[in-house]
Amino acid sequence: MPAVAVIGAQWGDEGKGKIVDLLSEKVNMVVRFSGGNNAGHTVINPYGEFKLRLVPSGIFHRDATCIIGNGVVIDPAVLLEEIEGIRKSGVSVERLFVSDRANLIMPYHRLLDGLEEEARGGGAIGTTRRGIGPCYTDKAGRLGIRVGDLLDKEVFRERLSFVLEQKNRVITKLYDAEPLSFDGIYAEYCGYADELVPHIRPTDMMVQRALEAGQTVLLEGAQGTMLDIDFGTYPYVTSTSTIVGGACSGLGISPLRVDRVIGVCKAYSTRVGEGPMPTELTGETGERIRERAHEYGVVTRRPRRCGWFDAVVGRFSTRINGFSDFALTRLDILDIMPSIKICTGYRVDGRTLTDPPSSPTVLARCEPVYEELAGWESDIAGVRRFEELPAAARSYVRRLEELIDCPASVVSVGPSREETIIIRDVP
Ligand code: IMP
Repeated sequence: MPAVAVIGAQWGDEGKGKIVDLLSEKVNMVVRFSGGNNAGHTVINPYGEFKLRLVPSGIFHRDATCIIGNGVVIDPAVLLEEIEGIRKSGVSVERLFVSDRANLIMPYHRLLDGLEEEARGGGAIGTTRRGIGPCYTDKAGRLGIRVGDLLDKEVFRERLSFVLEQKNRVITKLYDAEPLSFDGIYAEYCGYADELVPHIRPTDMMVQRALEAGQTVLLEGAQGTMLDIDFGTYPYVTSTSTIVGGACSGLGISPLRVDRVIGVCKAYSTRVGEGPMPTELTGETGERIRERAHEYGVVTRRPRRCGWFDAVVGRFSTRINGFSDFALTRLDILDIMPSIKICTGYRVDGRTLTDPPSSPTVLARCEPVYEELAGWESDIAGVRRFEELPAAARSYVRRLEELIDCPASVVSVGPSREETIIIRDVP
């Protein structure tokens, strides 16, 4: 089996880490292709509980090679800290490789992320302030510094002095802030270079060779479709392509290589940061979901906004990504609900929409059209076979399949690997 992609179908935090961890047992390579340390995957396995930001979850499987591809932006301090934490738990990181073409997050990116957010005032995006947007801006503006530049300190010196001069002009003249020191950044990043060199590779070649050899490569998505730079709720999105298309450019592989695309949907919706979210529950029900599910950001610890499942979003994600099947996560969170709503359309300006509008102002005015299903009000964490779920839980999953036009292959009923129902073959 060639490449299998795992893609978030909502606004991120769908539980992709668990699904990737589950699938990683049977694959040869696990790769990240977009985003940076704005992503945070919680993985619980026999080695402990880990909050992974950059390292693919496959690192815990002895036989899997892990790749951070060219489409990812890398904060080397965060990556090295993560590597150290994994090493300390007794897991080898020798199989972890970073693309020489990936762009580096520099101190001015983090600084500018904060300054830009403040300048946006009431229109702030609610970014993670990790420098993601400014780093991708520089990549597109051809002002980026790439991981490969660290391999030659003279090349790095020249590139940094050229770029920093421009950045300091923006920092001081536009934002009236203090300039950053060349010497400090140069010394800091040369230190990171020494530690990172053993992991730097032309990873595009590695992935292509693995595919040519018939190996299974798992493409680990970050964030979700509704945060995609083109198809998400722009401008309240991240700065990269989070959809399956991003995997091809973020790794250097042909779309023809992607054999299966698994969408990951949480049984309800969450969103962190600003921007419209039609099914948001601002009252007691939203609060109950948040507390029961501990819906707080892995990276920023911000409370996540919670709401009912939005099938308009689910269907849109299925089409944009061509999901072959989907994994439904956190179904157990709904155990306490006497009844459960699913949004099937949006009412706006006297019309009912079945696709998300591209305009954030129109989306903000959309009222969800709900269908209400009975809850099951029982504990499903111990269930391992789909037929053993309460009838109401099965009906909920079956209705989601119909509405988003995609079959479910996995249902997760708890955080650990064992708390999983496999409906149909997983690679
Ligand atoms: P940025 O990616 O830090 O620029 O943030 C842009 C938007 O994407 C903000 O609304 C963030 O909260 C959101 N975001 C970024 N990464 C994640 C993630 O991993 N999960 C959920 N939301 C995210």
